[in-house]
Amino acid sequence: MTQFKRTLVTTALPYANGPVHIGHLAGVYIPADIYVRYLRLKGDDVLLIGGSDEHGVPITLKARNEGVMPQDVVDKYHNIIKNSFADFGISFDIYSRTSNKIHYETASEFFKMLYAKGEFIEKESEQYYDEEAKQFLADRYITGTCPHCGKDGAYGDQCESCGTSLNALDLINPRSTISGSAPVLRTTKHWYLPLDKHEPFLRQWILEDHKEWKSNVYGQCKSWLDMGLQPRAVSRDLDWGVPVPVEGAEGKVLYVWFDAPIGYISATKELTSQWEKYWKDTETRMLHFIGKDNIVFHCIVFPTMLKAEGTFILPENVPANEFLNLEGDKISTSRNWAVWLHEYLVDFKDKQDVLRYVLTANAPEAKDNDFTWKDFQARNNNELVAIFGNFVNRTMVLTHKYFDGKTPAPHTFDSFDNETLNSISIIVKNVEEALVQFKFREAVKEAMNLARLGNKYLADTEPWKLIKTDSEKTATILYVALQITANLSILMEPFLPFSAQKLRTMLNIPAADWSLCGQKEIIAPNHAIEQPQLLFEKIEDDVIQQQLNRLEETKANNGIAAVQQVNPAKENINYDTFSTMDIRIGTILEAEKVAKTKKLMKLTVDTGFDRRTVVSGIAEHYTPDEVIGRQVSILVNLAPRVIKGIESKGMILMAEDADGKLLFVHPSAKASNGATVS
Ligand code: 2FM
Ligand code: ZN
Repeated sequence: MTQFKRTLVTTALPYANGPVHIGHLAGVYIPADIYVRYLRLKGDDVLLIGGSDEHGVPITLKARNEGVMPQDVVDKYHNIIKNSFADFGISFDIYSRTSNKIHYETASEFFKMLYAKGEFIEKESEQYYDEEAKQFLADRYITGTCPHCGKDGAYGDQCESCGTSLNALDLINPRSTISGSAPVLRTTKHWYLPLDKHEPFLRQWILEDHKEWKSNVYGQCKSWLDMGLQPRAVSRDLDWGVPVPVEGAEGKVLYVWFDAPIGYISATKELTSQWEKYWKDTETRMLHFIGKDNIVFHCIVFPTMLKAEGTFILPENVPANEFLNLEGDKISTSRNWAVWLHEYLVDFKDKQDVLRYVLTANAPEAKDNDFTWKDFQARNNNELVAIFGNFVNRTMVLTHKYFDGKTPAPHTFDSFDNETLNSISIIVKNVEEALVQFKFREAVKEAMNLARLGNKYLADTEPWKLIKTDSEKTATILYVALQITANLSILMEPFLPFSAQKLRTMLNIPAADWSLCGQKEIIAPNHAIEQPQLLFEKIEDDVIQQQLNRLEETKANNGIAAVQQVNPAKENINYDTFSTMDIRIGTILEAEKVAKTKKLMKLTVDTGFDRRTVVSGIAEHYTPDEVIGRQVSILVNLAPRVIKGIESKGMILMAEDADGKLLFVHPSAKASNGATVS
């Protein structure tokens, strides 16, 4: 067996097209963080690499939907995501992004190297094209019915319902997600990675040499290999991404699944000049932490790329998790069915560890799992508060009460004391055994067993009764209880880093040192401890009910109901028709309600070239004071009309919200009056 000198842990790069939610944390980032924190505590050489995936159709679709540029989308979400991870203590050595220059260079170099080695097939083929939008329909730009599970809404590259990776040409009833129209076929040239050529190697490497991989991972790889691998296109006809760096590839970029995993390499390069040690030395153990939808890319496609390049190591393991559901339903960004990390922290300030704990204890390791708010509450109240927090608090309060906050010197240990002290190292060993096998649910359960041990020890020995008759025995008991507490402050560090640090501060223990973990004496007699503070607080029913209500509302407002409230699009018009409308930016100078009407307001508007009167139906939504001084969009060449005896010249443009409220359509920053809106 190879003895590894160092470990490189990569975590799937989330698409920067939205914030991150509990599914991300549970599936990838918490397990990776626990693992890396554990290795760091042991003093191992380990790196945790992460970053945002900023290319691909998920990004351009979001930009199109929001009417902004892709760069705006990734700038916004990269920062939100990065902050969320930092807030939850995911201890990345670097959290980078694939729109970085270093990534463009690294990905281009990688492609050029494979190209020069003749590792690609260059091929023309027919692909779907949207004649209205005038573009090829890569990946999520095309949707239709899944040929495998029959569900509608499958994308050109993947069906999110059954998880199957698809070829767009196999979709039933394909439609463009840009225009909704039926696509046509057009010929285009692309570069393909011949996975089939590498199949014999992959069969040996995965199916024979890595039988120890998790069964969900191994099983998925086996079924891919048994179906027979096909060449896979590594380029796309898109204008957002890393340009294909060869002649004759204008308008083509690298497929996001070609460039994104190279992002792990570019991030390591960005972090350290020693990056090659982590990527090219066979004494490095590389691990990819991912969700199950990424298995094929990390076990088959990326290893093939690395192998074909020739100088890189391959992953030693790919501990992929299954999916986390929320209250019985699939987590969905588009349906807003999620617990968003940045929102959680608003409602549960400083309770990062509670979520970390619940998501670890209930991690979707072997099968999909469900997050429920009731379970969240129960695990907090019955486990973190009642077991861990309660044990620590009782031990510290009693030490202050009976021994002036100093660790008492023990007297004679009886068999129960010895048995309890001996159990510490056994529990620590169990935790370690689970961790090295990526069994994080089991690991955290075992770690909690140390707090359970302490709780039972106090309940059985009852030092609060003994103090009246036997202060020596009480001293021994609190000495033992304090050693358990000190062990907890190290053992819990990978799982609950915020609480473990808080506990170490209370115990006056410097940094966590794993070599101490499992020892019978971590704090010596006479060692002073601080006053205890509560590690965890009970979560009341009304707080949980609020979260459930919010989800109920989401359900009620989304889906069909929300869609029905949106008016269908009108018939298309041509540009000439549109350009006859003269829309300008203006400022409302004066406003007054029109007498004897409920809805009408008479406005005087500065259009930049004149001052004019407009009668607008906004009086039920705004007072005159609220609108004076506002910049608005005004259609200035609408034929004048007399309304309630007032000549109205033009129309103020308003948006009607789903609940009927009228909203002004105004420039995003102050603009000159008279500026043309087009
Ligand atoms: O599934 C996803 O969210 C992808 N953005 C994961 C990419 S992982 C890696 F290859 F970068
Ligand atoms: Zn399907």
